[in-house]
Amino acid sequence: MTLWGGRFEQPTADLLRQLGDSIGFDWQLYRQDIAGSIAYAGALAGAGVITPGERDALAGGLRQVRDEFDRGAFEFAPGDEDIHTAVERRLHEIVGPVAGKLHTGRSRNDQIATDTRLWALEAIAAAQAGIHDLAAALVDLAAPHTETLMPGFTHLQPAQPVSFAHWLMSHFWPLTRDHDRFADCARRTAVSPLGAGALAGNPYPIDRAALAKSLGFAAVAQNSLDAVADRDFVAEYLFDAALLGVHLSRFAEDVIIYTNPAFGWLRLGEPYTTGSSLMPQKRNPDSMEITRGKSARLIGHVTTLLAVLKGTPTSYDKDLQEDKEPLFDAAHTLRLLLPLMAGVVRSLEPNPARMRAALDPAMLATDLADYLVARGAPFRRAHELAGHAVRAAEARGVALDALTAADLRAISLEFGDDVTAVFDFDRSVAQRAAIGGAAPAAVRAQIEAAREWLAARGADSA
Ligand code: ARG
Repeated sequence: MTLWGGRFEQPTADLLRQLGDSIGFDWQLYRQDIAGSIAYAGALAGAGVITPGERDALAGGLRQVRDEFDRGAFEFAPGDEDIHTAVERRLHEIVGPVAGKLHTGRSRNDQIATDTRLWALEAIAAAQAGIHDLAAALVDLAAPHTETLMPGFTHLQPAQPVSFAHWLMSHFWPLTRDHDRFADCARRTAVSPLGAGALAGNPYPIDRAALAKSLGFAAVAQNSLDAVADRDFVAEYLFDAALLGVHLSRFAEDVIIYTNPAFGWLRLGEPYTTGSSLMPQKRNPDSMEITRGKSARLIGHVTTLLAVLKGTPTSYDKDLQEDKEPLFDAAHTLRLLLPLMAGVVRSLEPNPARMRAALDPAMLATDLADYLVARGAPFRRAHELAGHAVRAAEARGVALDALTAADLRAISLEFGDDVTAVFDFDRSVAQRAAIGGAAPAAVRAQIEAAREWLAARGADSA
């Protein structure tokens, strides 16, 4: 039996049922669906469409259905094609014919849009909490390491010395942007479609604003056609999740490189590594590799939804049902990935000696040029002369800092006797003291700003 079978003589093709039924995944919306129905029963009573007694009977029955779901005692029936029909069918069994009044003026089109928005709002809050915790873990690990120097890379080639704290903090700031993007997404998600009907609006004098407010929405959708068609909030959520996934993946890639024994800068906690069934010595960074892999899946989800949306004509189309599995899977993935990554960060053991040993004096070549600039040389000429110094050291097979003042003055008399003071990694880093630079003082200020950000967006203030 279907809820819409009145005009049909033949049953739905079995294959269409298999492809079209959504109960296999949208049962996860039962809380939102029932909350929406209880609120809607209230709106119908407020409009005089049902009596207060009928409203209470419906609400009582709906609460019982919810309780059955909560306890895992809800029994699905063969005709339950989606969460809406399943709840209404069961409600009918519990409260009798009055259940048939609940859907007055309402459609599954405004119903599913409402359910999905309420569900997405919770997923957004969960993602934000996970991001906040991971961001806090990064700051905590960074704080004691503003003077722990390590090579900074561009093109994955040794470039200039930075600190371990500065590197960690470079992965903190993208998370603040992710957090803010989810907050922005929440603003557009918290708009109520309920009362839009199937597409043209609700013919009963329901108070849509009060209905929206009772469900926790901040505003009411202004066009009923748009209200049932709009899945922008899902697309935004999926993009925000995909970009967050990209950030986690980039961090994971660094950790994979830095934990490789050839580097040995970091050690991953054992719970976040796995062994090899063949090679007893292996300590594989599976947690980071699976993070990198899951980010691909998140990118796939936003691509899927955008492709679904691009060809749909005005208002509701069944294609829109394809929004659910990407949304659910992305949220599920983030619920696991974010705490995993926070655990990884809390397990990381830096090896400051290995980091420092990896510093190559050639990374001070820019400082050599800056030394000449301080003595009045144009930077382009200073760069050229420092390049000659690098070449001279290479030709002799020695490190750059093995060159003496005399060696350098043989290249140019613009180098003074005090030039070898430049060959000092700590001095080099300390020079980069402008806001955002790698100097310990600048990184301490950065960490201070980060802590302010964390405090301003504490656990429940999106
Ligand atoms: N399962 C559907 C979805 O997820 C619910 C809405 C169905 N509406 C309809 N007219 N068939 O989009």
